[in-house]
Amino acid sequence: MSPAKTFYVTTPIYYVNDVPHIGHAYTTVAGDVLTRWHRQKGESVWFLTGTDEHGQKVLRTAEANGVTPQAWVDNLVETSWKPNWLALNIANDDFIRTTEPRHSERVQKFLTGLKDDGFIYAGKYEGPYCVGCEEFKILGDLVEKDGKQTCSTHGTPVEIVNENNWFFKLSEFVLPLLNHYRESPQALQPESARNEVLSFLESGVTDLSISRSTFDWGITVPWDPDQVFYVWFDALLNYATAVGLGDDPSSAGGKKFANTWPADVHLVGKDILRFHAVIWPAMLMAAGLATPKKVFAHGWLLVGGEKMSKSKLTGIAPKQITDHFGVDAFRYYFLRAIPFGSDGSFSWEDVHARYTSELANDFGNLASRLAAMIEKYCGGVIPESSYDKELAEALAMTVEKADAAMCDLDFQTGIVAIMDFCKQVNGYVTVKEPWILAKDAANKAELDAILYNTAESLRALAILLNSVMPATCEILWESLGANKSIGALKDQHIADVSKWGQLPAGSVVTKSASLFPRLDVIA
Ligand code: ME8
Ligand code: MG
Repeated sequence: MSPAKTFYVTTPIYYVNDVPHIGHAYTTVAGDVLTRWHRQKGESVWFLTGTDEHGQKVLRTAEANGVTPQAWVDNLVETSWKPNWLALNIANDDFIRTTEPRHSERVQKFLTGLKDDGFIYAGKYEGPYCVGCEEFKILGDLVEKDGKQTCSTHGTPVEIVNENNWFFKLSEFVLPLLNHYRESPQALQPESARNEVLSFLESGVTDLSISRSTFDWGITVPWDPDQVFYVWFDALLNYATAVGLGDDPSSAGGKKFANTWPADVHLVGKDILRFHAVIWPAMLMAAGLATPKKVFAHGWLLVGGEKMSKSKLTGIAPKQITDHFGVDAFRYYFLRAIPFGSDGSFSWEDVHARYTSELANDFGNLASRLAAMIEKYCGGVIPESSYDKELAEALAMTVEKADAAMCDLDFQTGIVAIMDFCKQVNGYVTVKEPWILAKDAANKAELDAILYNTAESLRALAILLNSVMPATCEILWESLGANKSIGALKDQHIADVSKWGQLPAGSVVTKSASLFPRLDVIA
């Protein structure tokens, strides 16, 4: 029997014309949280991210800096992009760079196949191009500024390309794509994105130029070595080349592909929706391959009402925020504050407010109160098991709601459900007033029960928040003595979280450093 298909999650591969900003981190953290959540369900998951290294945008940046494009990308990937993901605790299984031979060789083979099958032909392209988007533009997408046609995303004038190129018969796939999205609405989310793509397809789509002849920073067209493939035609294929596209079925790559493809979720920002929802599935359809199960286009982080971007120099580096609030608060903040799929503005005040009220006061304080009381009233060990119907039932409902939301990529609803349970547990402790009961030895059984139920709730919270804040939850897990008494945090499955009574009596609880220290002592 072949093993169950691996759940395959991807992020866009980012242009390495510059260093990462929090927009890139937003997508990648979302992918990481989704990955960790599915792993916590006991599933096998493959999480891919990487870098898009060809094209004129990268080439021109390298030239402007007086280095070769290869030297430019090698340096930025190693000194900036990879360390950035490491710092944000991103658990990707692979990192693909489009300049790697494993990518370019599979791209050449795949596209030669499309040509042999009649989907690629020679033609002439004349029209506007935005180097910022690396996109052949249609006139309706441009805005006139100072008498010039400019890109609505980048605000810069488009350039006119006039070249003999190779074309892909994209127009042949308009009807199959329309049918696909009408029959499988879950394949393109959220609904606003699907509607946009449906009307784009209905308005008619022309064939696509897929090669360039005026520069050579790209993957060589094997049957016409004077041309390189259009950067997007090369880049989109990364999702498949990274898992063995086109390899012999009996080889390691072929087996990987069979077990991984199609991707379960391509996470992208709405800026690159059409590439992923139109061009990419058409390429796959032409090759007779399965289309991705879901493309999800999230919204933009805005600065001053506009999309934060490298080219506009409005990018905020993740480190600016993590230095002050810590990595886990960063991971938590964006998914908690912004409905996934909507635009959102970043503000220091809002991060500060949520850090203080939700993370430090609601979550961190609950953990430190419990540890202090177990130490003071129970000699540092978990007391006899107890059961609180209200808490246990609330937990069961929380798990159900959070699981449905997280799997549906509604991170905000999932996180809010978990944090609401956290609030409820805080309320339970406040109402029961264990510190008053502790004054009279006759209340010992009742006191123990309150502390046990609180500890059990924290056990559940550590598991449920682990995908969002893995470092913090590990500290909490360790402080509950659960590594010794239950086992590794990562091995605790979502399906079992709400079974009440898992923390065994006698587990040794230790006080940890504050999970979310007061802000004036960080940084
Ligand atoms: O488009 N808000 O790369 P890119 C939210 N190489 N997300 C943002 C964002 C913002 N302000 N800015 C960037 C490319 N992002 C291509 C992709 S994939 C085969 C090739 C995130 O460096 C978001 O995910 O311009 C967006 O789609 C992506 O970074 C664009 O990154
Ligand atoms: Mg971009």
